[in-house]
Amino acid sequence: MSNDLPGIAVFVSGSGSNLQALIDASGSRKLEANIGLVVSNKSKAYGLVRAREAGIDCFVFKSKRYSSVQEASDKLLGVLREHKVDYIALAGYLKLLPEMIVKEYRNRILNIHPGSLPKYGGKGMYGHFVHEAVLANGENATAATVHLVDEVYDRGRTLESVSVPVMSDDTSETLAERVLKEEHELYWQVINKLIRGKYDFDN
Ligand code: GRF
Repeated sequence: MSNDLPGIAVFVSGSGSNLQALIDASGSRKLEANIGLVVSNKSKAYGLVRAREAGIDCFVFKSKRYSSVQEASDKLLGVLREHKVDYIALAGYLKLLPEMIVKEYRNRILNIHPGSLPKYGGKGMYGHFVHEAVLANGENATAATVHLVDEVYDRGRTLESVSVPVMSDDTSETLAERVLKEEHELYWQVINKLIRGKYDFDN
């Protein structure tokens, strides 16, 4: 892997299929970044297995293990710096990032969300909850969305959103599968655009 590429850290809490898609995109040189670190709040997250198999350093970050938010934030920031992390990609990470990290990486943190924002976002609106709400509302389309991360769940500006059709016989599982396929193709492309400076920011 070329050392001139910017470094990214991918944060996961679960299965990590988006992480896998990024690992694959990095392997085929489609992703113009080096995944130098995977962070998880869960030591048993399958995403960590995927990371280790790909030879990527892992860090389990449990903020409650530290005596203060400051201490936890300093530790995480230290690990990110140690791994030369320039960008952060949240991929199924279910915790809010410490404010200090959001500040330090302002406009360099992305999240991928399995629905349209802001309608199907916010605290508690993740994974199957999103797809169930979309089905309950009788929507005929949903979305895979990549947005900037700030201090509030799913509030940051949407950078790209791809529409995904909802079928009349969809369950939350079949819908999740269709959305995930789009997510896997979308995320590395948005990361590349961000790295290339294709988005304008006011702050
Ligand atoms: C994805 O649907 C993503 O949009 C959301 O959480 C899910 C994570 O799936 N933030 P995976 O762990 O990448 O398979």
